[in-house]
Amino acid sequence: MPKPRPIVIVANRLPVHRSGDRFVENAGGLVTALVPALKTRGGAWVGWSGSSRATTRPFKYENFRIQPVHISEAEIEGFYNQLSNRTLWPLYHDAIRTPEFDHSWWRPYVVVNHRFAKATAAVTPRNGLVWVHDYHLQLVPAMLRAMRPDVRIGFFLHVPFPPEELFAWLPWRERILEGLLGADVVGFQTQAAARNFSRAAREYSPAEGTDSELLWERRKVKVASYPISIDFNWFADAAATPEATREAALLRRRVGAGRKIFLSVDRLDYTKGIDLRLLAFEAMLKRRRSLANDCVFIQIASPSREPVHEYAQMRIRIEQLVGRINGEFSEPGRVSVHYFRRGFTREQLASYYRAADVMIVTPLRDGMNLVAKEFVATRSDYSGVLVLSEFAGAARELRQAIIVNPRNIEGMADAFEAALTLPKADARHRMAVLRTVVRRHDVFEWADEFLRALAG
Ligand code: ADP
Ligand code: F6P
Repeated sequence: MPKPRPIVIVANRLPVHRSGDRFVENAGGLVTALVPALKTRGGAWVGWSGSSRATTRPFKYENFRIQPVHISEAEIEGFYNQLSNRTLWPLYHDAIRTPEFDHSWWRPYVVVNHRFAKATAAVTPRNGLVWVHDYHLQLVPAMLRAMRPDVRIGFFLHVPFPPEELFAWLPWRERILEGLLGADVVGFQTQAAARNFSRAAREYSPAEGTDSELLWERRKVKVASYPISIDFNWFADAAATPEATREAALLRRRVGAGRKIFLSVDRLDYTKGIDLRLLAFEAMLKRRRSLANDCVFIQIASPSREPVHEYAQMRIRIEQLVGRINGEFSEPGRVSVHYFRRGFTREQLASYYRAADVMIVTPLRDGMNLVAKEFVATRSDYSGVLVLSEFAGAARELRQAIIVNPRNIEGMADAFEAALTLPKADARHRMAVLRTVVRRHDVFEWADEFLRALAG
């Protein structure tokens, strides 16, 4: 069998950070999926360390190269906080917050994308494979192609691609489309996102073709969906260890033995619908006060993008709601909502998933949502119920979840009650199907499928 070709991964974040004198892998789906591929194939990872002060000296990790890209303080502001997270992020998530279009942010976005393209061109072998990730780097494919016409370029968007009418708002829409069309394969989480992109490309660029293949500058660009997934076995195993079993039992005792645990785990992001699900929990307790004895809500929210105003605002809103619900429904020694504003280790999350009775995943819009898949992977005994927003990419695959509209507060409260009373046999059947879906399509298969398409 021929040796698989080396790959160059280009992503906003690097896969490792320094801890004392060693490097530690960052948590997250991308690292889980691609570091093993890099370890066997070799190649490089081009990315930002997350700080303007970190070294840009390349180094070797395992058998591949890490190539840090420097981003200055001023560029972090324009490229990351502003254009990426105040223009593109809200626009691509159904304009849940009004996107801002400020011309002074566009320049740093172009400059940083160009720097990534240059760094990538320098480390990619002749006829190499390059895989660019996410909304921060949408100009890289075309910039790289201009520098290195010999390489095969793939792009994967981790977030939704908006419908044509929303995308049309973007003052730089042609530039973004031409940037992405520099790739040979453009991948999305869902078919709807792939279709939105192809339609926007036909409407706002000279590209022609179908929803699955565009013709651009005498090249074919494949457009398809590749739904990302998780390391199923890792989560299944982590939740089954004696420590996880002990931790889950301890957690259940500490929140009040016999109480049903509702659990949510998110980055603290306004797209995740944390405030609306708290309102739904409150509505359920208002309807049936006795449920305050029988149920507890645990919200784990890791701080994210805190310099961005809309994120700070959402934090205040969530904290007010938690205070309001606890003020109304808690008793000494019996808290209604436990709120943790911090990151947990993956092992800790596995114990929490294991302890939960009802997992609430209700984003207003989400490219995929891995938390829903992680929860399912931990339920080896087929117990537990997943309540899932119809606006998460994961809802296309996880059809046996209880599907909700996160803007319908009363409807969500109904769904929470339904989850509590779902007949055991029904719950087990649903979980068995959900587990089969996630097990069959794990993150390694996702990476293989994309890389096969990229190799052509
Ligand atoms: P997003 O990419 O928008 O953050 P996903 O649900 O797709 O959303 O992925 C989030 C990832 O981050 C998951 O792997 C999840 O386990 C992890 N995560 C989310 N919240 C926390 C937290 N509080 N602590 C640790 N990890 C978290
Ligand atoms: O889901 C989009 C995404 O950019 C992920 O790729 C990333 O892991 C997550 O959001 C966190 O974002 P940031 O890099 O801004 O902390």
